[in-house]
Amino acid sequence: MDHSPAADAPILFFDSGLGGLSVLGPTRALLPTAPIVYAADYAGLPYGAKSNEELAARVPALLGRLVERYQPRLAVIACNTASTIALTHVRAALDLPIVGTVPAIKPAAEMTKSGVIGVLGTAATVRQPYVDDLGARFAGGKTVLRHGSPDLVTAAEAKLNDQPFDTATAAEQAIAGLRNQSGGAAIDVIVLACTHFPLLLGELQAAAGPGVQLIDGSAGIARRIAHLTEGQAWPAEALPGVAVFTRSPDRPPPPLAALAPYGIGSIETI
Ligand code: DGL
Repeated sequence: MDHSPAADAPILFFDSGLGGLSVLGPTRALLPTAPIVYAADYAGLPYGAKSNEELAARVPALLGRLVERYQPRLAVIACNTASTIALTHVRAALDLPIVGTVPAIKPAAEMTKSGVIGVLGTAATVRQPYVDDLGARFAGGKTVLRHGSPDLVTAAEAKLNDQPFDTATAAEQAIAGLRNQSGGAAIDVIVLACTHFPLLLGELQAAAGPGVQLIDGSAGIARRIAHLTEGQAWPAEALPGVAVFTRSPDRPPPPLAALAPYGIGSIETI
């Protein structure tokens, strides 16, 4: 019996907001005709301010609804906060391949010359024991400094929603939050451990200066998705993707124009 998914079965991307677009972009470059459902939990944004208990319950439940509705071949938790807290719960609850998003501490440890790495994430991500484990396993003997920046999430959302926000100052303050720690002046690699942050790459690079390399996991995740779907059927041509937003009274979905460059052709709310 053939268990391979139908050509039109989508890949589901999931984030609290628009950060997952930084993972969707490189994935489309590798799999240009992959049908896409991009899901954002606007009713729950920001995840970085939520407790582990809340996210461990919310994320699997919401993903369960989305999987039932869209029948994806694979789901990508394109959110570091949700992945570091809820990945195990999601895998236990759902019967399909789940790709998570892990802070790129391993490649950063291979790149650093000074031996001091910065990790920029949400407040929730940077406090996770999971990040300690990654540091211990892959960055032994190196210093890993962390900083949580909710403002960068707000800045990335504002940028894509065409709303005014001082993104340059948010970027400077986030970089200063790493640099001003003891030993922070020696940081030469910064891990962008929140999928919203690569959407502000220019602003963050300007704030960090040319001597600091910024790194994120999106290219690696895209390769992982391509590997897991190798040999599967895809449509002959790209079909417009769907974006779905959980309904929030004070946060309407973004303009379609912000999502169109990522192959999204329509917006739904649930
Ligand atoms: N994009 C999410 C992440 O990668 C989190 C943003 C938020 O909801 O705080 O962690």
